[in-house]
Amino acid sequence: MPDELAKIVAEYKGEKGALIPILQKVQEKFGYLSEEAISEIAKSSRMSESEVFGVASFYAQFYFTRRGQHTVKVCLGTACHVRGGEKILDEIKRELGVESGGTTEDYKFSLERVACFGSCALAPVLVINKDVYGRMTVAKSKETVNKYR
Ligand code: FES
Repeated sequence: MPDELAKIVAEYKGEKGALIPILQKVQEKFGYLSEEAISEIAKSSRMSESEVFGVASFYAQFYFTRRGQHTVKVCLGTACHVRGGEKILDEIKRELGVESGGTTEDYKFSLERVACFGSCALAPVLVINKDVYGRMTVAKSKETVNKYR
């Protein structure tokens, strides 16, 4: 087990109700929850692996496969869709060579489509990691993604 995983798990050992914070911390560190991580967390929380997996898979924030270093989210909520969100998504798919939900082979980018960021006045919206880019155009979206290469 990698030292860092052992350290995080040990920090919470025996603490009740610590499952979500452990999952969050492990994901923050490694970018996703590997089988090994689930198994270690289960042992230290005295739960079965399937219980830990069951809890984690309930929350959309957790990932079970390795993710890209940067997460690119294209909004396709109503306002963004109407103002061309789909075209932006198509352009980014082409530029990165992945489908939505996918990760590039070099693990640089993961691409997702989401339904409304709550910034509809800025539609169409593109979010890379925590950076929000409003009033996107197809041309600008390509440029914006490439800034993260
Ligand atoms: S629909 Fe895209 S931010 Fe609301």
